[in-house]
Amino acid sequence: MCGIVGILGTTPVASLIVDGLKRLEYRGYDSAGVATLERGRLDRRRAEGKLRNLEARLREQPLDGLIGIGHTRWATHGRPSERNAHPHATDKLAVVHNGIIENFRELRESLQADGLRFESETDTEVVAQYVTREMRRTNDPVAAVAASLAQFRGAFALAFLFDGEEDLMIGARRGAPLAVGWGEGEMYLGSDALALAPFTDTITYLEDGDWVVLRHGGAEFRDQNNAVVQRPKQKTSAGAFLVDKGAHRHFMAKEIHEQPEVVGRTLAHYIDMATGRVRLPFEVPFDWSDLDRLTVSACGTAYIAGLVAKYWFERFARLPVEIDVASEFRYREAPLPRKGLALFISQSGETADTLAGLRYAKENGQKILSVVNVPTSSIARESDVVAPTLAGPEIGVASTKAFTCQLTVLACLAVAAGLARGTLSESEGLRLVTELIAVPGLMAETLKHEHEVEQVARDLSKVSDVLYLGRGSSFPMALEGALKLKEISYIHAEAYAAGELKHGPIALIDETMPVIVIAPRDALYEKTVSNMQEVAARGGRIVLISDAHAAAESGLDGLENVVMPPMGADFAPIVYAVPIQLLAYWAAVALGKDVDQPRNLAKSVTVE
Ligand code: F6R
Repeated sequence: MCGIVGILGTTPVASLIVDGLKRLEYRGYDSAGVATLERGRLDRRRAEGKLRNLEARLREQPLDGLIGIGHTRWATHGRPSERNAHPHATDKLAVVHNGIIENFRELRESLQADGLRFESETDTEVVAQYVTREMRRTNDPVAAVAASLAQFRGAFALAFLFDGEEDLMIGARRGAPLAVGWGEGEMYLGSDALALAPFTDTITYLEDGDWVVLRHGGAEFRDQNNAVVQRPKQKTSAGAFLVDKGAHRHFMAKEIHEQPEVVGRTLAHYIDMATGRVRLPFEVPFDWSDLDRLTVSACGTAYIAGLVAKYWFERFARLPVEIDVASEFRYREAPLPRKGLALFISQSGETADTLAGLRYAKENGQKILSVVNVPTSSIARESDVVAPTLAGPEIGVASTKAFTCQLTVLACLAVAAGLARGTLSESEGLRLVTELIAVPGLMAETLKHEHEVEQVARDLSKVSDVLYLGRGSSFPMALEGALKLKEISYIHAEAYAAGELKHGPIALIDETMPVIVIAPRDALYEKTVSNMQEVAARGGRIVLISDAHAAAESGLDGLENVVMPPMGADFAPIVYAVPIQLLAYWAAVALGKDVDQPRNLAKSVTVE
């Protein structure tokens, strides 16, 4: 997490750096800072809180330098404060950092033993001090960084600016992403292409372990052994996407409403609309029918997409699926089958745990398939084959359209696997594709009832705890409902498989506890009705998300119904995501929460 921007410019850069940082605020937003060289001398401004606070500080005390670095922070070491905000500086240099220096304690002790004093509680200040000590030894910034990088353990992206060096910036990448942008007599450094989109569409990604020496005239790349290497320039389309809220109050609202369009766009990429058949837009470097097992791993909402997909792969393709959150998978030394495929799901493609899980699976002989939204990301680049989601940039911290696009891609992959393994007949395949093609229209229909969901959410915003229930593929959707509500409204929510209720959580039920039941009319619907009866018998308040007919069929009095259009059951999770997201969104709005940038969170989690 944390966002980095650096500019070697020809005009004052501070406000341009802040523009770039605004595009990175999704990576963290608890404090921010900029340093530039003014007549060769380092000067910096920092502020606690969102970027607007830094902008205010820069208005009061402008920075006029033509070369500078900036940072927006998601705190790992040291609480959010101006003192802990980046850039961290010495008399020789300023540095910004994304990631964690894991051995910072031992390095700090050695530096303190040399009489150096620390101002902040951060691991980053160790980098500033360590490189400064090397500079006193070598008197050469490039040699000092080269000697220092090998001493840092952990995952990081760094950008350095040096006192008295108007034509030098150094970037380094290990684990966390970093890109170089090419301009006309100007050079740029940024955490991703989106940050650099206002300045250039020509990008070079640093490979893992690379570092780069930037001057106004160009860049020299070195690998982890300090050998000079060539890295390709790429054209990016990041700038083509307008990052604004349109007519919506929040990015999250805009992204929820974009779903019929982006899910439709994603479907069109995977389905031949003329024949109604799935047509994967890439060759798979494995044989579906030869696979023994699919191992899935991801984090957060992307993990929940994987949980839904487990039901699809097992049902359509009879392919056993094992799934785990990536932070567990990467360390649990799972034995992996000889004929195994590993699937990683990630919006950003940079999530540290997911990337580490991918590397583990690769080392253990698995073919790697990834479902990602950022095709140039680390996860995409390290996969054998990439199945893109065409959601476009997702800015709201809570994942919405990326999630439904992940589900859409996973549904197409599961159907393709079923057909290839002979576990789905041609006619079943065609029926499933017909159901999939109906999804964007059903999402649009559901969005028309937003006002009703808003009313339910207003009531929800008055309680302190909520229970979500679902069966089958609606169980992961219950997990997603609880996650969304927690992260943006801060209302405590838990999710259970409806059949588990009686094994413990039923003790929580009383008239104050809303129970949100996600139950499309599928083969398990009657079982879920029995669980609703158990809740009703104990005075619980039920909100049923299902179609009106199903609600009437339940025979329960006093049921609140979030009315869904009738639909086939197989891909209902993709459509049912919409009311789940809207409930969380409107509850958070009713509570006056910061919907797009909830406290303590960041969009891209590049630390463990
Ligand atoms: C929740 C949310 C997170 C992400 C998770 C993984 O709304 O957005 O749980 O899903 O941090 O991120 P990616 O998909 O970028 O790997």
